[in-house]
Amino acid sequence: MTDEEIDPLLEKLDAAQKVRLLTGASTWRTHAEPAVGLRALTLSDGPAGVRGETWDERETSLVLPSPTALAASWDERLLTDLGVLLAAEARRKGVDVLLAPTLNLQRSPLGGRHFECFSEDPFLTGRTGAALVKGIQSGGVAATAKHFVANDAETDRLRVDVRVDEQTLHEVYLAPFEAVVAAGVQAVMSAYNKVDGVTMSASPLLEHPLKEGWGFEGPVVSDWGGVRTLLDTARSAQDLAMPGPDGPWAAGLLTALEQGLVSPEVIDDKVRRLLRLAGQVGALGSSRPVWRPVIAPGTQRALLRRAVAAGSVLLRNEGELLPLDPAGLRSVAVIGPHATAVRIQGGGSAEVFPDAVVTPLAGIEEALEGAAAVTYHRGLPLSARPVPLTRELSRDPRSGEPGVLVRLLDGNGNELHAEHRLSGRIVEPSVRVDGAAAVEIRALVRPAVGGMWTWALGGWGDLSLSVGGREVLSGTFPLDSDDPTRVHVAPPLHRARAELAQGQEVEVVARRSLAPGSGVATVLAAAPPADDAARALAGAVAAARAADVAVVVVGTTEQSESEGHDRTSLDLPDGQDALVRAVARANPRTVVVVNSGGPVTLPWHTRVPALLLAWFPGQEAGGGIADVLFGRAEPGGRLPTTWGTVQDDVPVLDTAPTAGGQLRYEEGLHIGYAAWLRSGAVPAYWFGHGLGYTNWAYEELTAPAEVRDGDPFDVRVRVRNSGRRRGREVVQVYLARSGTAVERPALRLIGYAAVEAEPGESAVAVVRVSGRALAHWSAARHGWETETGEFALLGGHSAGDLPLIAALTAVAPRTPAGTDATVDPKHPGERSPLVL
Ligand code: BGC
Repeated sequence: MTDEEIDPLLEKLDAAQKVRLLTGASTWRTHAEPAVGLRALTLSDGPAGVRGETWDERETSLVLPSPTALAASWDERLLTDLGVLLAAEARRKGVDVLLAPTLNLQRSPLGGRHFECFSEDPFLTGRTGAALVKGIQSGGVAATAKHFVANDAETDRLRVDVRVDEQTLHEVYLAPFEAVVAAGVQAVMSAYNKVDGVTMSASPLLEHPLKEGWGFEGPVVSDWGGVRTLLDTARSAQDLAMPGPDGPWAAGLLTALEQGLVSPEVIDDKVRRLLRLAGQVGALGSSRPVWRPVIAPGTQRALLRRAVAAGSVLLRNEGELLPLDPAGLRSVAVIGPHATAVRIQGGGSAEVFPDAVVTPLAGIEEALEGAAAVTYHRGLPLSARPVPLTRELSRDPRSGEPGVLVRLLDGNGNELHAEHRLSGRIVEPSVRVDGAAAVEIRALVRPAVGGMWTWALGGWGDLSLSVGGREVLSGTFPLDSDDPTRVHVAPPLHRARAELAQGQEVEVVARRSLAPGSGVATVLAAAPPADDAARALAGAVAAARAADVAVVVVGTTEQSESEGHDRTSLDLPDGQDALVRAVARANPRTVVVVNSGGPVTLPWHTRVPALLLAWFPGQEAGGGIADVLFGRAEPGGRLPTTWGTVQDDVPVLDTAPTAGGQLRYEEGLHIGYAAWLRSGAVPAYWFGHGLGYTNWAYEELTAPAEVRDGDPFDVRVRVRNSGRRRGREVVQVYLARSGTAVERPALRLIGYAAVEAEPGESAVAVVRVSGRALAHWSAARHGWETETGEFALLGGHSAGDLPLIAALTAVAPRTPAGTDATVDPKHPGERSPLVL
């Protein structure tokens, strides 16, 4: 819809109607306004799938690999296809606006939401995000670039004040947002944190550069609860406060407007942007989105499975152990808890409920059916960490069906509502009932092992738990954080222990008060007594020794990688390092599969012949991993993040603000591979690294000898498939400059292109480089500038393996003397167009 069509609609609304539109109507919806034919918009997380309006395990979603895995594919075509799939899921669930992609950077590997970000590199993040956005929006669903900006860690994220210099802000942290705005993203979410002392929902950065500089025309949506004050946020370029119906704007914006504290033009601009978005998704008048559902439902799971292989990164493959030939195998020992309890996604607001999950064990069994015997051993004792009850562990005492019974009770304990649920993790009962005073979860559990079980009840406020008729926990529990994830999704767990006899069914009853000041989610969780660690390990080692090949799947836990908190350690938990070492000693043909969202330290990595990163692979995990192991697909992934050997080597680690509440990005431009290059420490695996099933010789790099500032150019890199299989190589081009007066990273990725070739064949990767690639941000002039003179272009396989080099001279742009085409005198920094 054009502004000519929208402006007359604005005139039909009075001040109260306009202001009402600027706060959500509920957790996930905006207000409707019949006077202008506006229906409510539904927003939903993202990014690994579309949850929809309810947080209910019965409303399942397709689950994609985590964003880091998607970025690891370096495959924009695949990203766009997955965006189309997300759009189809959004439409199926009545969602207009998807709260994805996350464009924050992997500054520190300890960042709790690392899995939800694409990369440590701004360029790769921007290209990946833009490709996904195009796919989502081609389906008539708006994408939301979040969290604008510098929300790169979780510790005290509501208050932390990120201090980052102007050049770094523009070249590193704003750059991916700029790329996605250039790709037409229809919404942007402001972050919780502050930048340079100002909360992002009131930040001048929303105006400049986002709207004025880059020309972003959509609304800035707040992060959930991110508008916490009235006048500063209302006067800023923040447009929509979510969630609703309450909040500072709902309470005070109309009065502020009437008192002249906020100007009517500012309000009109916010409403206009919201109406524009509504027009784009078909929520305004008779406007219809341009929606081409090009993904047939029957092909969705195949696409997700392909994405697993495309994002899996093969770090090592000594002696070409992989791919395994099923015909040459008699037996495979599959080992490790994650082989059966695979983590398909990270925790927090991004979490969705899968319909079905293919575990690595199931994928391997399917691939070897009729060909080789498969054994499975955990190799570790059962974890003492309670996990929410599942259908496998409990049944509903009323219906007898697997799962739990959830009831809403009045003040006298009388039942007002009952429903059967599939898990002990109840974020929301599916109905609201007047007079309800408590929510109850009831389950029958028949312990497979007897002994001292650990129980946990998650929530805050008045809670109680009884096991087998005996109260084991009761009291009023305070909330330990105001972080929305803690409040709404993952409340604190309170533990109790109870002895259970093997095979003897007990009833477990958990209750939480619904009084104001009590929690939202309730979790009933259990952990059986741990078995003997030595016996578990011995069983796995014996199986590995007896098998032709051992496949060990190791990974992180829900506790260690989740929204709302950062990690404290990069180590694999629960003795998994010892398990890998023991298995690798027992069988020299050991393949290790790592199931984590972000980097973990792998102290044994040079002792295992084959090492595959599967990330959080989404619901088709097992099928995709087996495709790679048995050569039905090449591992397509290249690292989007540098992996260190030991935590102490990692050059940028800090995630926590100092005592003054500031998190200083002291390293400036030098994050990721640039930080490693500057520190001199050698990582275990460089950004960009990843093996396929063939080898490549880098033969020649050609580029123009001279370019004018602002002109795009092509770099051609000839590579030859020197191996024995057809393959795909991601050719990367980096920029460097010595003898410079400007602060620069040692290397900067400026382009990449994938090629495919048969054995012996050559292919030329044509890498298009943007006219902006040579520029740097001048803090003195608040704008982009290009230093003339000689740059080096380096081409190769990763940031640590760049065999080809060419010189390129930048010359001044073709402009009349004395003017500078890249700088707008009013807002100097905002006029250098980004051409991807
Ligand atoms: C997260 C956002 C998310 C929102 C709604 C916030 O806590 O930071 O990424 O979109 O919740 O769930």
